[in-house]
Amino acid sequence: MQKEIKKILVTGALGQIGTELTMALRDKYGEDKVIASDIRVDPPKKLRKSGLFLQVDVTKPDTINQVIIQHDVDTIFHMAAILSGIGEKDPHLCWNVNMNGSINVLNLGVKYDLNRIIIPSSMAVWGDGVPAENVPQDSVLKPTSMYGVTKVAGERLCDYYVRRHGLDCRGLRYPGIISHETLPGGGTTDYAVEIFYEAIKHKHYTCFLKEDTTLPMMYMPDCIKATMDLAEADYDNLEHHSDFNVAAMSFSPGELAEEIKKHIPNFTMDYRPDYRQPIAESWPRSIDDSCARREWNWQPSYNLESMVSDMIKKLRMKLL
Ligand code: NAD
Ligand code: SER
Repeated sequence: MQKEIKKILVTGALGQIGTELTMALRDKYGEDKVIASDIRVDPPKKLRKSGLFLQVDVTKPDTINQVIIQHDVDTIFHMAAILSGIGEKDPHLCWNVNMNGSINVLNLGVKYDLNRIIIPSSMAVWGDGVPAENVPQDSVLKPTSMYGVTKVAGERLCDYYVRRHGLDCRGLRYPGIISHETLPGGGTTDYAVEIFYEAIKHKHYTCFLKEDTTLPMMYMPDCIKATMDLAEADYDNLEHHSDFNVAAMSFSPGELAEEIKKHIPNFTMDYRPDYRQPIAESWPRSIDDSCARREWNWQPSYNLESMVSDMIKKLRMKLL
């Protein structure tokens, strides 16, 4: 029988996913049961008022160690990372935060016999030689970005700790995440969030990817659901641990613009591809997530149409 989750530490809690995950975890487990942390110290009001926030640099194991002891943490959602765009500009920072951050969390997991550790991976694990459509759970992992290299190594590291130390470590390969609460932190799929802000504010967006660059994407409510469902899944049903494919929808910038035009008819878009175009082109267009569906009943709720409609509704309330 797996143990109940009692006290959670979220690292990288001020990021795009961390902010919403922290709030969702506090709703589920209780405000006093979820500690938010980040290297930055500027939590938004909602997060600050709903529970404890601490500064934690994941590259410094002592700071994580102290929080685990002082607050009796038994579960870590490790969201601190450097994403693909920033990672290509500063590969050493990306390696340091993603690799040393993860191994520090895993070592402390062993030291304190923690209940569970969740470390997200990414579609960036794929690269050369991967099928473009419906990439299966087990496929060649030859990423071309530093971010992708750290994500593959992170998955292998987690599975090593599962086998070698019996640590319960779980992870999933998010596609590009779309949300309206916190802006994304410097990835290749950030265009799919920026476009909404620009469409509502200026009716125009210059996209840094080409019009026909199709990528797998997911709306934040599905991302949070996937993360929390995997965290609570019955360990005995899991054949995989750190590398679950998850999918929801796939679209190109051109298709997203067309969907937005249904709500904002005078919206226009032009294209100025930059250094992120080759990263996007190294990733598949769609993902086969049948293992996640089978092993922990994963199922997304949002498609392109329902995501765009909800994003525009929520952002109009926020921005206008
Ligand atoms: P983000 O960039 O928005 O947030 C990352 C957070 O980590 C930031 O708040 C940053 O301040 C913090 N951070 C950076 N260095 C740190 C350090 N040394 N110590 C502590 N905190 C530090 O990222 P996100 O989008 O919220 O991503 C969360 C996880 O999900 C990451 O593992 C990422 O690779 C993965 N992921 C995200 C997406 C996406 O589209 N957002 C897609 C695939 C995978
Ligand atoms: N959204 C992420 C990025 O673009 C994918 O992991 O970096």
